[in-house]
Amino acid sequence: MKFSAAFTSLCLAAVAVALPAEKRADSSTSAAPTVTDILNYALTLEHLENAFYAEGIKNFTHLSFIEAGLPGFAAGRFSEIAQHEATHVQFLAGALGESATQACNYNFPVTDAKSFAQVSYLLENVGTSAYSGAAQYLSGGTLTAAATILAVEARHSAWVNSAVLKANPWNGAFDTPLDLNQVYTLASGLITSCPSSNPTLPVKAFPALTFGSDMTAGKATTVSFNGSDASSADGTYVGFISGMNTTIVPVQNGQVTIPDGLMGVVYAVATSSESMTSDNVTLAGPAFLSFDFGPNGKPIGHWLL
Ligand SMILES: *[C@@H]1O[C@H](CO)[C@@H](O)[C@H](O)[C@H]1NC(C)=O
Ligand SMILES: *[C@@H]1O[C@H](CO)[C@@H](O)[C@H](O)[C@H]1NC(C)=O
Ligand SMILES: *[C@@H]1O[C@H](CO)[C@@H](O)[C@H](O)[C@H]1NC(C)=O
Ligand SMILES: *[C@@H]1O[C@H](CO)[C@@H](O)[C@H](O)[C@H]1NC(C)=O
Repeated sequence: MKFSAAFTSLCLAAVAVALPAEKRADSSTSAAPTVTDILNYALTLEHLENAFYAEGIKNFTHLSFIEAGLPGFAAGRFSEIAQHEATHVQFLAGALGESATQACNYNFPVTDAKSFAQVSYLLENVGTSAYSGAAQYLSGGTLTAAATILAVEARHSAWVNSAVLKANPWNGAFDTPLDLNQVYTLASGLITSCPSSNPTLPVKAFPALTFGSDMTAGKATTVSFNGSDASSADGTYVGFISGMNTTIVPVQNGQVTIPDGLMGVVYAVATSSESMTSDNVTLAGPAFLSFDFGPNGKPIGHWLL
């Protein structure tokens, strides 16, 4: 307890030092986000996770997990995770003081204990990717504090997909960093409205990218951008981002062929470029895909949200 209190004040002091020094060079250009922007961006995600688990632990008991064919002990662990996320909110809101963004209203695609665990896995992965992608904007004690949160989100993710969902705890040797707009795109699908007093963050959501339900390696599947099928989208591409590796395939007749060898969490982005998936060439996405694998590295199914 003593250690944790000392650590908290150390991190808060680091944040307090960082805040007054920041300045955006020119708000009309896409200058780097400020430390306050990044902390509010992190808080936006933590509010979302906090609301998700607070609802989930009310919705699902020990018995709900057993009825869904999952281990009953998951209920107790999800209560621990709920506590972590509430603490992350408190920590970031405390560091931001009056600048702190407030919680929004959310709509989670949860119908039973299993879909709750799958959305948990999505949120913990997106959280991990958000912190690693935003690390470049932080330094000193603030970066250390963010790293300690990132590590906890990665532990949650590993636990949910292995102990609860009985699949791979990790993806590969590298995790996937996502940029601010990519993360916001994934989060915004779950946000229905926010208080108008919330600060405006330098983020935007791309249109949604969705796939047909057959996502087997080597097979073609349909692609839709923002709800419209991509049959007129020949000449565009879909990039499958996994760790440091992106495989880009062409859209042909509204379909893409799923590349071989995708393992674990993969983020798919529709792009106008045959060689990159950066924001300036993004047409839609990312979409969250999970290519689960067993201890022998063999695929054991896939799912998408
Ligand atoms: C909890 O249950 C309510 C009511 O059925 C539902 O609207 C909400 O999406 C659920 N949330 C979670 C995270 O399970
Ligand atoms: C996505 O579709 C919605 C509804 O069809 C439309 O209002 C919105 O402008 C579209 N967004 C983009 C970026 O195309
Ligand atoms: C990237 O993906 C390709 C094709 O799946 C694979 O052969 C290669 O080993 C991967 N590289 C890394 C660094 O993961
Ligand atoms: C998009 O940005 C990348 C750098 O992130 C740059 O290399 C590329 O030329 C840009 N492409 C376009 C079409 O602006």
